[in-house]
Amino acid sequence: MHNDISKIIFSEQDLANRVAEMGEAITRDYAEVPGGVVVISILRGGAVFTCDLIRRINLPLEMDFMAVSSYGNGVKSSGVVRILKDLNTDIRGRHVIIAEDIIDSGFTLQYLMKNLLSREPASLTVAALMRKDTPNQADIDCRYVGFECPDEFIVGYGLDYAEHYRNLPYIGVLKPEIYQ
Ligand code: PRP
Ligand code: MN
Ligand code: MG
Repeated sequence: MHNDISKIIFSEQDLANRVAEMGEAITRDYAEVPGGVVVISILRGGAVFTCDLIRRINLPLEMDFMAVSSYGNGVKSSGVVRILKDLNTDIRGRHVIIAEDIIDSGFTLQYLMKNLLSREPASLTVAALMRKDTPNQADIDCRYVGFECPDEFIVGYGLDYAEHYRNLPYIGVLKPEIYQ
C-alpha cells in the first residue's frame, strides 16, 4: 500500500467485480435502444472507471470526453463548475450515459446534466462509481451507483489530490497530514 494511504476502501478486486456488474446492468437496460449508447467520460477523475466500464458493456458504443473542474487543487468543491473541454459528438437524439468517478456535493453532475439535457439527447443517465454520504448533496438522479462511500478524503482509481494518486489501482483514504 502507498505510504500516504491510511486504509484501502475498495480493492482492485472489489472495483473489478462491481464495474463488471454495472456494465452488465447497462448492457441489459439498453439492449433494445436504436443506435447504441454514447458514454461520456468526465475527465479527469472519471477516466479510469470509464475505461474499465466500457469494456464490460456489450452494445454498440461510442465514447467521448468532457473535462470539467470544480475542485482545482483544493479539498472542497468551489461550487463553480467550468467546462475545460467539450464533446466532439452531437448527442441530439442519442442515448447518453455519463460516467463519473464520484458524486460528492453533486454540483458537477447537476451542472453537467442540465448542460447535456439542453442538447436534447434521447435519454440521459448517470453511472457513478461512488456516491459519497455528503450532507446537503444536490439531488442527482443516478441510475447506476457502484458503491456508497463514507465522507472521507479518498484517492486512487482516477481520484486525485492535487493531481496525484490517480494511478493507484485501488481506492483508499488519504492520510490527513498529506492535505492539512
Ligand atoms: C471531482 C470528481 C467529480 C467531482 C465530484 O472532480 O472527479 O468529478 O469532483 O464532486 P462534486 O459532486 O462535489 O461536484 P474534480 O473537480 O476534482 O476534477 P478532476 O476530475 O479533474 O479531478
Ligand atoms: Mn472529476
Ligand atoms: Mg479532482
